[in-house]
Amino acid sequence: MKHICILPGDGIGPEVTGCAVRALDTVTDRLEMTTAPIGQAAYLRTGSWLPDDTMRMMRNSDSCLFGAVTSVEEKTYRSPVLAFRKDLDLYANLRPVRTTVQTPYTHPIDIVIVRENTEGMYTQDEVHEAGGVTTRRRVTSAACERIVRFSIDYALANGRRRVCCVHKSNVLKESDGLFVRTFREVMDRHGHDLAREEHLVDSAAMKLVTEPSRFDVIVTLNLYGDILSDVAAGVAGGLGFAPSGNIGPTHSVFEPAHGSAPDIAGKGVANPTAALLAAAMMLRHIDMAPEGERVERAVRETYAAGDLTVDVGGRLGSDAFTEKVIARILAKVQRT
Ligand code: NAI
Ligand code: MG
Repeated sequence: MKHICILPGDGIGPEVTGCAVRALDTVTDRLEMTTAPIGQAAYLRTGSWLPDDTMRMMRNSDSCLFGAVTSVEEKTYRSPVLAFRKDLDLYANLRPVRTTVQTPYTHPIDIVIVRENTEGMYTQDEVHEAGGVTTRRRVTSAACERIVRFSIDYALANGRRRVCCVHKSNVLKESDGLFVRTFREVMDRHGHDLAREEHLVDSAAMKLVTEPSRFDVIVTLNLYGDILSDVAAGVAGGLGFAPSGNIGPTHSVFEPAHGSAPDIAGKGVANPTAALLAAAMMLRHIDMAPEGERVERAVRETYAAGDLTVDVGGRLGSDAFTEKVIARILAKVQRT
């Protein structure tokens, strides 16, 4: 039995994680899932956006499946997402983007963005100084080394051929320069079987849109990875299609890359695909690869059969789409 902590969160978070939990319940009976509060709902109940009990449950689980939270414009607010990434040392943010559905606005793309998840612009070290605000951005050689190593290990384990380092070292010569130098050194030591490339982040963003197939694995710093993965998700059909995993040496949290989408929350139209694919990634991570494969295949076959969600011009809301996916998982389970 594996123990999974489910963190629905705010907005469409509970809607899409609910869909993913149903798919998980269908594909296996080897998961024990416990739900824990996070975000606004947690704050209203406990006065904390990330209660200690939630953190304890996350720490004691084999993995976690998280929805999304809504940020609050309050001085005392600390993002629970940044907090659990730090607390659990989830240093790698793995964001695969692969075309799931062909529409007039999607382009074939099959890439994996490996984003440094613990420092860079996300240390939230901001001070008011005369006439403005200074933000300190931290880049360490230890963090650069382990994220590059992660991207190499991931590429080798998953049959990927190329790793591209995305940076802005022409301007940020010291910090991004350290990242690029570390990339070269670690590739020299461990990446012999892989082709390597380096790209400035602005032109990488443009090429992700115009020539997405030129990329394979991208390794990059925190802010660039956040932005580029949304760009890539847009190329693949939208944020409803982009899963992600926050991975550390001992813990992991999987989530859709999107936020709480207050504009569509409660309407039943959120695309649960990113959450379903995040659940599939989680299954693979906890040594349940066949079950993960079954969930992902069921999602792909549902789109291939022309059963489309609302965000890509279809008619299926979150529940109706999930029913189709579950029917496909069941058909496979009965056949195997
Ligand atoms: P968002 O990702 O929530 O939404 C951006 C756009 O994409 C919206 O138009 C939304 O309707 C659409 N969208 C997102 N997910 C979708 C889905 N599954 N199906 C169909 N359409 C979908 O980003 P936004 O609007 O910038 O942020 C909303 C809130 O979420 C903010 O409070 C933000 O701080 C928070 N957020 C939380 C994250 C997390 O918990 N990991 C990540 C990103 C944002
Ligand atoms: Mg983002």
